[in-house]
Amino acid sequence: MVVTEDSAFAHLDPAYRRFAALPDDARIDWIRADRWIGFDQSKVVLARLENLLAYPPRDRMPCLLIYGDTGMGKTKIVRKFERDHPPKFNQITGVDYRPVVVAQVPSEPIERDLYRELLVSMAAPAMAGGTLAREKDICRALLRTVGAKMIVLDEVNGMLAGTFRQQRIFLNALRFLANDLRVPLVCAGTDLARQALLTDAQLAERFEAFHLKPWQNDAAFAGLLKSFERILPLREASDLISAEARERIHKLTSGVTARIFRLIETAAEEAVRAGKERLDAHSFGDNLVLPLVSMTQTARRRGKPAQQQVGA
Ligand SMILES: Nc1ncnc2c1ncn2[C@@H]1O[C@H](COP(=O)(O)OP(=O)(O)OP(=O)(O)O)[C@@H](O)[C@H]1O
Ligand SMILES: [Mg+2]
Repeated sequence: MVVTEDSAFAHLDPAYRRFAALPDDARIDWIRADRWIGFDQSKVVLARLENLLAYPPRDRMPCLLIYGDTGMGKTKIVRKFERDHPPKFNQITGVDYRPVVVAQVPSEPIERDLYRELLVSMAAPAMAGGTLAREKDICRALLRTVGAKMIVLDEVNGMLAGTFRQQRIFLNALRFLANDLRVPLVCAGTDLARQALLTDAQLAERFEAFHLKPWQNDAAFAGLLKSFERILPLREASDLISAEARERIHKLTSGVTARIFRLIETAAEEAVRAGKERLDAHSFGDNLVLPLVSMTQTARRRGKPAQQQVGA
């Protein structure tokens, strides 16, 4: 048998072994790059979304709310689902067929901005000076033309930034979209999004809610850490799932997905730079340049007053 460079990195998934052979700079770039890692909760949500997408049109379509703290991975899931159902160009009609239309709720809940966001996400040219009614009509017509089978609105918590009156109008617009197009509406946002939807009894009844919970130090968490061990381009086998490593990572990140990813990526980068080439409980020492949130945790453990938490 020919021994290839690949078999040298048996601790990695076969598809990722070649990255471990790259020079340090390229490996650091790889570690820093955006990627998708599937984990238990995210897979459950994706399966639910698939299920909704296949739902036949009916008068009262089921809707889904994905809610959880900031940094839990809601936008990541939505974007992954969008990539799984990309637009396809239709030769006959000359338009993109777009099963999943994803838009962000504008930072202020203005109905017109919602239609504009939706139009932009369908790659429609900007419309100047239309009336609200006209923009609504065009948005609706275009959603039909592109064959939208699901509308996903991210950052729904932004709705609460408006006045009570604005919120009511906005909720009405959402209700209208869901009823009129007979497609499932998916909303994502923090717990505030849930509270906002609950203020509309009719919508609340239609929404099934999925809570993306912070990680516990359990088997699912060990599974996530295992996935990291199998893909990070480090040349030696890491040990992230020893009780000590798990506990340390969990403590430093409070189980928030974004923090876990940042912490491990930072430590992996350091392991490449320092030539250590593996991660274990000691990789997360106090000398590591950690994300700010983790530093507040470290300070707390040492008995210093905790600093104010800054973003996630
Ligand atoms: N499945 C995943 N694969 C890879 N990275 C992820 C995943 N989920 C979360 N992350 C990491 O966590 C970060 C935050 O995720 P995301 O933006 O989806 O959070 P969010 O729940 O939408 O937060 P917010 O409420 O602030 O919008 C991402 O930038 C990424 O680094
Ligand atoms: Mg988000």
